[in-house]
Amino acid sequence: MSAGPKIFLTRELPPDSMAILRRHSQLTYNQDDRVLDKQELIDGLKDADGLLCLLNDTIDADVINANPNLRVISNFAVGFNNIDVNAATARKLPITNTPGVLTETTADMAFALLMAAARRVAEGDRFVRTRGWNGWGPLQFLGCEVTGATLGLVGLGRIGKSMIQRAKGFEMPVVYWNRTRMSEKEESALGVTYKSLDDVMTHSDFVSVHVALNDETHHLIGAEQISRMKPTGILINTSRGPVVDESALVEALKSRSIGGAGLDVYENEPLLEPELYDLPTAVLAPHLGSATLQTRTKMGNMAAENCLAACDGKRPPNLVNPEVWD
Ligand code: GLV
Repeated sequence: MSAGPKIFLTRELPPDSMAILRRHSQLTYNQDDRVLDKQELIDGLKDADGLLCLLNDTIDADVINANPNLRVISNFAVGFNNIDVNAATARKLPITNTPGVLTETTADMAFALLMAAARRVAEGDRFVRTRGWNGWGPLQFLGCEVTGATLGLVGLGRIGKSMIQRAKGFEMPVVYWNRTRMSEKEESALGVTYKSLDDVMTHSDFVSVHVALNDETHHLIGAEQISRMKPTGILINTSRGPVVDESALVEALKSRSIGGAGLDVYENEPLLEPELYDLPTAVLAPHLGSATLQTRTKMGNMAAENCLAACDGKRPPNLVNPEVWD
């Protein structure tokens, strides 16, 4: 084992990132391809200088306080709602994330879900596999038009903005809601129109959600917002499951009061609302937003760099709680 700080990693990362960690640290990691439970997390980080964890590791106050010598929690994700940031900040423990490197990849996934839901790709795939298809038909699997349809963005951070580029290619007018409205100059440079959240829901053919999960955005898209959608409207979520009230969404899909959904994230991953599994107008992906080898490698290298820097007493590049450093 090489010298360097002791790092505990909760799951194997892409090979390049593993090589960096092995080269620069005394690495121990969970070699089982599964999420660790609380006690396993606590045991694993007992002697560690740095913890490198994933978005489905629950890093609560007990885990954070289990090792008073821990110097950093490096999350392999841009979202960090899995970590009790207040508990970490209270003991001046830096937390880092991996912003920027997964922006385009996640926007690609949101657009893939949008296209798949609009054109019934998953339904068609399932149908062909039944071996029951008896040939082309003029009324078979009619979907909805994407070109020229209105895209509503809920949240206009990095990934939301990246959706605008894709929408342009499909000549889609873009309306958006964001907690903070952009300046008119920025809006006209991006070619987007600001609306209230209610109006985004009402006027869009596709609503794509791109906000971070926090206390303010939990169930931001609830029954009332969903009820404002067009009967043909399609809801896309690649952010975090709890931003959308999943049971309200199920009700809307069941009663066909909206046209469909493209979901990559769920309220209680890996479990879904039971009825969701059987609703044909929902396209369901298993949280694949950043899932390409190139992007996961960039995320892994960034998470490793953050972890190693903080263990070495240097300010990590992607601090989410900068107040612990200043
Ligand atoms: C993925 O969901 C991430 O937050 O990085």
